[in-house]
Amino acid sequence: MPLDIIVGAQWGDEGKGRVVDLLAAQADLVARYNGGDNAGHTVTVGEKTFKLHLIPSGIIHPHTVGLIGNGVVVNPATLIAEMEMLAAAGIDVSPQRLRLSFAAHLITPAHRALDQAQESARGKGQIGTTLRGIGPAYTSKVSRQGLRLLDLLDRIAFQNVLRSHIDEVNRILTALYNAPALDPEPLVAEFDRYAEKLAPYICDVSALLSESLAHGQRVLAEGAQGTLLDLDHGTYPFVTSSNPTAPGALVGLGLGLGSAERVIGVTKAFQTRVGAGPFPTEVTGDLALRLRGSGQNPWDEYGTTTGRPRRVGWLDMVLLRYAARINGLTESALTKLDILSGLPTIQICVAYRDGDKIYSDLPYGPSHISPFQAIYEDLPGWDVDLKEVRRWADLPVQARAYILRIEELSGVPVRLVSVGPERAQVIDLT
Ligand code: IMP
Repeated sequence: MPLDIIVGAQWGDEGKGRVVDLLAAQADLVARYNGGDNAGHTVTVGEKTFKLHLIPSGIIHPHTVGLIGNGVVVNPATLIAEMEMLAAAGIDVSPQRLRLSFAAHLITPAHRALDQAQESARGKGQIGTTLRGIGPAYTSKVSRQGLRLLDLLDRIAFQNVLRSHIDEVNRILTALYNAPALDPEPLVAEFDRYAEKLAPYICDVSALLSESLAHGQRVLAEGAQGTLLDLDHGTYPFVTSSNPTAPGALVGLGLGLGSAERVIGVTKAFQTRVGAGPFPTEVTGDLALRLRGSGQNPWDEYGTTTGRPRRVGWLDMVLLRYAARINGLTESALTKLDILSGLPTIQICVAYRDGDKIYSDLPYGPSHISPFQAIYEDLPGWDVDLKEVRRWADLPVQARAYILRIEELSGVPVRLVSVGPERAQVIDLT
């Protein structure tokens, strides 16, 4: 049963899109299992760069079928805009190539308005959400008041469900947050158009996947965000509202235990984060500017979804070991190693200090790391530009030492190293 799961091993933005794009070459189906259009997966093919938020990035390969699982929250406006963008780029997004789970929940403009109002009300305690309505949509789901893609199939009944959803959110917006109410009627008309467009795509993704796996087809589960943003296992409350970790793939696609073969943790060669929350290895000043880039290149460290500059820092091996455990990683894909070229010394966090206590593993999970100081090991850097390197043997000895140390400290073999945004800019270590 060849199911491979790709997860972010850090705070998201690890470069999952390009790893999915590579592995999708051998997959028959590629499925998103969590999150919504808060994600931003970038894939560069030749001259073209695709920035996808909702549709699995594996769909760029013409032989794959893209799926959106029940664990995803779907903003139909974003989905349709993305379908149109792909179609304009010559990529087939017919119902033969894209399937949506009937059990996935919808994000409405009311959820987005609520996200905005709640973030403003948090003041200094802001999470720094993407304002895409993610938290409120999952809140509706958990409180059993959500709207599902299945509901779109009965267009008349859906109009009433949508009206009462907007009425309810309006009461909260006006009474609790002093925010303007939404006018339901234009939204009812808008969603009716979405229902017509999306109906042919809605199916039982769980059943389709199980059947495909039983027939020996290869499925790639494409995680969004990252382990440390997981609602249960991340730096709570500075997390997203879904489960990006590998077990989330089974729940979010409706697959049983035992389906997974490889669990690939995509890990950036340094650490980044957008939004608020603890970050023990964060750096500032010139080094931060150097790691972040100017924003001129698609791969610079600015949010794909929000354009916000990302916080940057050294690779944190305490957190990576934790990610290996929580996900059951079988291998790592190390991205953006090329960015470290030219730095005289590379630091790697091997443990934390809290007063006179030293921790090499997390005592109470990652939400408790704010008071900790990183303890670093210094490794020598390298000057060579790595962009043209394609073989392990051609890597400078210092870069090899860095990779070997990451393997040693995480206990997970590195199987792939990326040295640039292009499909070909990888070193395969399998
Ligand atoms: P939300 O998912 O919009 O509710 O945002 C919650 C937190 O997750 C914020 O810190 C966001 O910046 C972060 N976040 C959400 N999606 C992504 C992503 O795809 N990459 C990186 N951070 C994300």
